[in-house]
Amino acid sequence: MTGNRRDPTDGLAIYRVGGTVRDEVMGRSSKDADFVVVDASPEQMQARGFRPVGRDFPVFLHPESGEEYALARTERKSGHGYHGFVFHTGPDVTLEDDLARRDLTINAMACSPRGEIIDPFGGREDIERRILRHVSPAFREDPVRILRLARFAARFPDFRVARKTLALCREMVAEGEVDHLVAERVWQEMSQALMEKHPARFFEVLRETGALAVILPEVDRLFGVPQVEQYHPEIDTGIHTLMVLEQSARLNASLAARFACLVHDLGKGLTPRERWPRHIGHEKAGIVPISEVCERLRVPSHCRDLALLVGEFHLHAHRALELRPGKVVKLLERLDVFRRPERLEPFLLACEADWRGRKGLEARPYPERDFLERASATATSIDARAFVDRGLKGPAIAAALHEARVQAVAELSR
Ligand code: CTP
Repeated sequence: MTGNRRDPTDGLAIYRVGGTVRDEVMGRSSKDADFVVVDASPEQMQARGFRPVGRDFPVFLHPESGEEYALARTERKSGHGYHGFVFHTGPDVTLEDDLARRDLTINAMACSPRGEIIDPFGGREDIERRILRHVSPAFREDPVRILRLARFAARFPDFRVARKTLALCREMVAEGEVDHLVAERVWQEMSQALMEKHPARFFEVLRETGALAVILPEVDRLFGVPQVEQYHPEIDTGIHTLMVLEQSARLNASLAARFACLVHDLGKGLTPRERWPRHIGHEKAGIVPISEVCERLRVPSHCRDLALLVGEFHLHAHRALELRPGKVVKLLERLDVFRRPERLEPFLLACEADWRGRKGLEARPYPERDFLERASATATSIDARAFVDRGLKGPAIAAALHEARVQAVAELSR
């Protein structure tokens, strides 16, 4: 009888902490809850059936719900970057000690089993006043927190970063803390930030702290690079990039498409000054820096592949209605849409975001997207079997297929 079984949490001092408490106070829905257990030992937890997450890490999974229960702990850094933390747990560590080691005041509240909010660092007030503020000097112990801060700024765009928090982040960057961040953590935070409602703010805050120049110098150097005003009333390439990102979020674009937006103009950062504000050939010039960013941050291959295509061919898409049918089919072939039809949509969304990510031009239509979708559909509908049945072989089939696709696209434009 399950009714008689002892609840593994019975008699433990347990508090809900972290993101779900913040979300509850803000009236937002949230995901999995995290819990802190005060005054319990690892042995007690295991005797109750909790499964340890790692060998030395004081975190356990509930035997039934799988939710995370961490022993209240303090942390001390023992090295640079994300590695090297020494944890201290024990009966002397209070709930408040555990909350004090957390990143932001809005994330340092707890909720008792009776539903009371425990808020020793003013998280509720900061939510009311819309401020992202670090809890204590312990913020410095983990440079990932700079990225988290920027990510929360992207999620909560009406929040501002407290002056002292910004100053602390700048100090951390100046001391080289960000140099030691591992690629996986950067990508993890950045990919989440890209999917937030206002991804541009992530990069704005990183830029204000100086961390963007360290993590993504290829993007940082776009700020201050002018473009031709006729096409880019916003002029600055960095500002344009952030406007494109915002458009990609408005279009509900996928992660791959949003990342492609971020890096689509990296080539412009390499244009010699004497050629400013023009950037002829920036699409091809972007291939090297885009590849370098992807390699350094270990960007997943589907994001890298799309980013390279958007970087190289966004101007082709913008000119789609003027291109000869042969060029349109070549573009579709380069995108490999005949074998990977799922690539077309994110490519076109990124191009549309680029088209609209310009000051005063945010609402202009992008008929090129519809045209390229129709061109792709009609070209894809041509069946190679007809050529095989006619007795064609190998390259002759490919040539006939290409020609038939060109004809089909030409019909569209008539
Ligand atoms: N935390 C921290 N420093 C970090 C990571 C996490 O202080 N580098 C603390 C924060 O109190 C945070 C909690 O651990 O609220 C849980 O972390 P996590 O689940 O990663 O994030 P959430 O704050 O829940 O945010 P999200 O909604 O993005 O998951």
